[in-house]
Amino acid sequence: MKQSLFFLLLLSSLIYAKEKYLDNHSCNECHEKIYEEYQTSAHSKGYFNDELHRKIANRVDSKKYKCATCHMPMADNIKDLIEGKARPNKDNKTHTDAISCYFCHTIAYVKKAHKYNINVKARQAQNYKPTLYGRLLKPDDSDKHSSSKNPIYGQKVCMGCHSHKLNDNNVTIFRAMSDKQNSIKCIECHMPEVEGGAEKMDKRSRGHHASHKFLGIHDKEFRKKGVDINATIDGKVLKVILTNKMAHPLIIQPARSKFLKIELKRDNKTIWQNYKKSPSEDKKAYFAYSFKKDGKKIIVPATATEGSANNLDTKESKTLTYTIPNLKKGDKIVISFYVQLAKSDCTKAIELEEKSLLKPILIKSIILSKL
Ligand code: HEC
Ligand code: HEC
Ligand code: HEC
Ligand code: HEC
Ligand code: HEC
Repeated sequence: MKQSLFFLLLLSSLIYAKEKYLDNHSCNECHEKIYEEYQTSAHSKGYFNDELHRKIANRVDSKKYKCATCHMPMADNIKDLIEGKARPNKDNKTHTDAISCYFCHTIAYVKKAHKYNINVKARQAQNYKPTLYGRLLKPDDSDKHSSSKNPIYGQKVCMGCHSHKLNDNNVTIFRAMSDKQNSIKCIECHMPEVEGGAEKMDKRSRGHHASHKFLGIHDKEFRKKGVDINATIDGKVLKVILTNKMAHPLIIQPARSKFLKIELKRDNKTIWQNYKKSPSEDKKAYFAYSFKKDGKKIIVPATATEGSANNLDTKESKTLTYTIPNLKKGDKIVISFYVQLAKSDCTKAIELEEKSLLKPILIKSIILSKL
């Protein structure tokens, strides 16, 4: 018994000699709140718990899982996944952990590159506890890890994955950051300080920590903050002014569409609308990426040879002008801004069981009334 245990220990130390991986759940022991927040965040989603992701990944390439670079960056066999020698494995924690705590907190620096930037990981000394980086002033060590302040946690930490992505034909699949932008702004909006120490004991009585919910488009309250809608009516002319308040373009996800629905309501009936059936009929007010291959429209951008987008840049405003019927007393104009997490076109390329992805979700709306 003793001997086989020894053998097991020896074997496992040989297997894990390359890098000791501390899985997400292991952080829960001390960083309970942060772990809980993280579990609700998009960063915990990936191949195994996100249908949209899995379906697109399988559709793009049924053998090679190139998405791992950003969606499964901690995978212990990442090269094999990318080259198609291995498939995502639900029994492997480095696969199911998606954008893992350990990954984000061991980025040493971010290298700028043409197709997409590269996260360069810190080399961890063998047989020592790993050093995790962050932004706390004088962080304590724990028995599981050393802590160290690293300037990239303010400046570059989001750039490694969110900056931009081009396909093999140099077509932009998404761009969320310009070359000059750093990550401080991203953190201010997406990781606000919330109550509770960074770890359970809170020996330093910090009393607050950076939220790891990474709220975004999926959160009802948060998504309202991204845009402002204003409108004026002058006779038959309706002007709608849409402003993007975010530090990134309005659309940074090729699967998304965002659009305006404008309704003129009289006695609870809609007597005028900016489109009949599909919001994409109102081209100016329909924001999305579109891709072509050899002149023909395609949905999945991996092989596109051309790409374009109706988009609003950071802090950009757009005025949309409509001619509407003359208003009567009691008329209401309802201006709503919606997001479709997977635009209708996607159903042509992939079969989605989760229909809610296609259902328009309200971002924000305003109502004008004729007194
Ligand atoms: C260069 C890094 C990178 C690579 C490579 C990459 N992605 Fe992404 N992906 C991102 C980032 C960053 C986001 C979040 C951006 C956003 O939501 O706007 C994202 C978001 C997504 C989403 C949206 C999830 C949601 O919120 O609905 C899907 C689906 C997705 N990716 C699928 C894939 C698939 C499939 C592949 C491989 C074919 C892939 N990605 C390759 C960086 C990458
Ligand atoms: C045994 C308890 C314990 C475990 C387990 C643990 N930590 Fe910590 N961690 C701490 C303590 C204590 C601090 C110091 C907090 C302070 O100074 O306020 C800390 C600080 C940190 C910091 C801050 C570093 C900085 O400079 O800002 C990060 C990041 C961090 N931990 C990440 C993790 C991650 C990721 C895991 C799981 C892989 C983890 N920790 C597991 C106890 C732990
Ligand atoms: C290792 C790559 C990676 C890094 C580093 C990274 N992200 Fe992400 N992020 C992603 C991917 C991939 C997704 C999409 C996950 C999904 O839904 O499948 C995502 C999604 C998001 C979302 C979307 C949330 C939603 O529900 O709409 C926000 C916001 C976000 N990240 C913010 C940040 C911020 C802020 C930073 C820097 C502190 C950061 N990310 C660093 C890869 C990364
Ligand atoms: C002024 C606040 C603000 C700043 C600064 C900001 N964002 Fe956002 N971001 C938002 C809001 C609000 C949303 C959700 C509404 C929406 O997407 O229309 C969002 C959405 C996102 C999404 C999800 C988009 C999608 O369709 O899934 C990602 C990813 C993201 N932000 C990343 C970043 C990154 C990276 C930075 C730093 C360059 C950053 N954000 C800076 C406010 C901000
Ligand atoms: C997408 C990258 C990313 C992921 C994933 C991530 N973190 Fe963080 N974390 C950050 C950044 C950036 C900061 C610094 C934010 C700041 O100081 O404003 C931070 C800060 C921290 C801190 C210090 C607390 C503080 O107030 O600054 C701890 C502890 C921590 N993270 C633990 C974790 C744990 C545990 C997980 C997983 C459950 C995790 N992180 C996942 C990016 C990430």
